[in-house]
Amino acid sequence: MNKAATFNPDCQLCPRLADFLREVKDDHPGYFCKPVPAFGDSDPGLLIVGLAPGKHGANQSGRPFTGDHAGILLYETLYKEGFSNNPVSSHAKDDLKLINCRITNAVKCLPPDNKPTTSEIRQCNPYLSEEIRALASGAVILALGKIAHDAILRASGLKLSSYKFAHGARHELPDGRLLVDSYHCSRYNTQTRRLTEAMFHQVFQQIRLMIE
Ligand code: URA
Repeated sequence: MNKAATFNPDCQLCPRLADFLREVKDDHPGYFCKPVPAFGDSDPGLLIVGLAPGKHGANQSGRPFTGDHAGILLYETLYKEGFSNNPVSSHAKDDLKLINCRITNAVKCLPPDNKPTTSEIRQCNPYLSEEIRALASGAVILALGKIAHDAILRASGLKLSSYKFAHGARHELPDGRLLVDSYHCSRYNTQTRRLTEAMFHQVFQQIRLMIE
């Protein structure tokens, strides 16, 4: 396992991201504009790892995948597959509860153009390491996209070249955990039908069988 660190809700270790959050806060004073913490069950069978908060989504609401297009399909699917009590995540103080599931991001702060740099991904990685370390052996980690996949491997101290990202792939990690890959549920991927609803559902159905 890589270096781990307890999530710091006031983290400013990435100067470019800290500056950008201040800029966005000036333009949108009501937005959260801080590192976005993980959300959900504290001892989950499934940890979902996204890329980074969206500007008008998690960065606005303070909850991963909440307020932007990417979250619509994710939260609907979680509900349909029995991982939550509600198909919609409206805001950080609604009564949505995730069941045996937790959602986090590889990078906790909003990056300009939705693109964190490699050094920002690395800087944030100890928080992900801590989240993975907290999982029970046998838990499933779902990577939404290649950046999340690589960040999970790095956080677990594993060689990236030993585990190739592919939609629907399932990797057994040496610590007993399972890594499952999916294309990211971004607007771009769903609108181009690189990722369809059916494909996304299948991923969660596969995970359900692994957890049970
Ligand atoms: N919102 C998030 O929190 N993460 C993503 O990867 C995309 C949108």
